[in-house]
Parts: sequence; structure tokens; C-alpha cells
Amino acid sequence: MKNIALLASGSGSNAENIIRYFRKDTRVHFPFIISNKPGAYVHERAKKLNIPSFFYKKECFENGEVLTFLLENKIDFIVLAGFLLKIPLDIVRAYPDKIINIHPALLPKFGGKGMYGAHVHEAVVAGKETESGVTIHYVNENYDEGRIIFQAKCKVLPTDTPEEVAAKVHELEYRYFPEVIGRVCLDIGKIPFRSARNDGDITATTSAPNTAPDKASKKNR
Ligand code: GRF
Repeated sequence: MKNIALLASGSGSNAENIIRYFRKDTRVHFPFIISNKPGAYVHERAKKLNIPSFFYKKECFENGEVLTFLLENKIDFIVLAGFLLKIPLDIVRAYPDKIINIHPALLPKFGGKGMYGAHVHEAVVAGKETESGVTIHYVNENYDEGRIIFQAKCKVLPTDTPEEVAAKVHELEYRYFPEVIGRVCLDIGKIPFRSARNDGDITATTSAPNTAPDKASKKNR
């Protein structure tokens, strides 16, 4: 069984969707949610879901307290579901290719410091982009630069507002994030994505089948 820590800074709708998706799956366990915001709505969701949620301020991420907590609780993977703090180097190093983030745009475009939440969708609309989407990637020491695991696209119409783009992107997040988490954490990335499709509205691609498992097996030789 894999122990997965969920980290979220805001509403936590992705965190809730992930927990519900895996509710009856005994292969993965989400023992708690961590947030860097004491008043974030994700704490309410956690309460309703009967999952403990903890608030850790920024300094606790930086002084090793959070890393100690993760290690003590035998956490195997960390999933960032709308988590806005930069993950410090000691955590990145302790969890190589074990921290997964979702970004609400098609990286490498619209990524980096300050590109989060509504800012991303506003920039997409201001840039007159014809498509946007989600990027699920590993976390390294730089914002939004870790290896891409999966992307799914949606169309952006000239009339779309940032809120409308956000709604389309959220739909992709709910549809794909849990499945990708399952594939990465359970190491079944070699099997093609069952739900990946290309139907004109949504294009889903993944690099996971050829990368993570091969790299791992080479290391073991
Ligand atoms: C999502 O759009 C996610 O991609 C981004 O932050 C947002 C979090 O939304 N990183 P929610 O808190 O899960 O509702």
C-alpha cells in the first residue's frame, strides 16, 4: 500500500476529488491533508471526509519539521493539489520523482513564480491562446519545471473569460488527476491511459509510459 500526503492551499476541490476517487482502493491511503493556510476551505472538506488536516506555516516547511512529519508517517508520495508554497530542497531531495503537481495550463507556457490560480487563466485569455489545459508533472527545485508526466488540452474560444477557461481546466483536472496519480504511485505507467482520448475538444498525452518505469529499472540493474 502506498501512503500519499495531499498538500493544498485553497479550496481543495481537487484534494476532495482525489480522496473520493480512491475511497475504496486499498492500494493507496491518504492519511492526512497538509495546508500552509489555516483558514483554507480544504480543512472543511477534510472534516467532512473524515481525514485529519494539519496547518503548517511556511517556516515549518523550511526548517525540516514538515519533512520529519512526512518521514515519520512513512509517506511514499506527495501530491500537490493547488499548493502554493515552493517545496524546499530537503523535501525535493528526500522524494525524488515522488512529488506530483498539477498546473492549470500547458507548461512550459504560463508557468513559474506568480503563475497560479486566476493569474494563469487571465494570462491565457490576454495572450489570445486558442487552447489551454492541465499539466501534471514531477516537482524539482524550480517552479513548474519538473518532468512532465501528462497533459490534457481544451479549446479556448475568443469569447471565453478567465472564469470560463478555469471551469474547463478544472473539468480536466477532475477527470485526469486521480487516474494519473494512481498510475504513477502504483507504477503502472507502462499501460496506455484508458481515458486518454482525442475527440476534438480534449487531447490527452502522457510521457509516463516511456520514462519513469524505464529509468527505475535501469537503476536496479
Ligand atoms: C487548480 O486549478 C490547480 O491546478 C492549481 O490550483 C487549483 C486548485 O484548485 N494548482 P482546488 O483548490 O483544488 O479547487
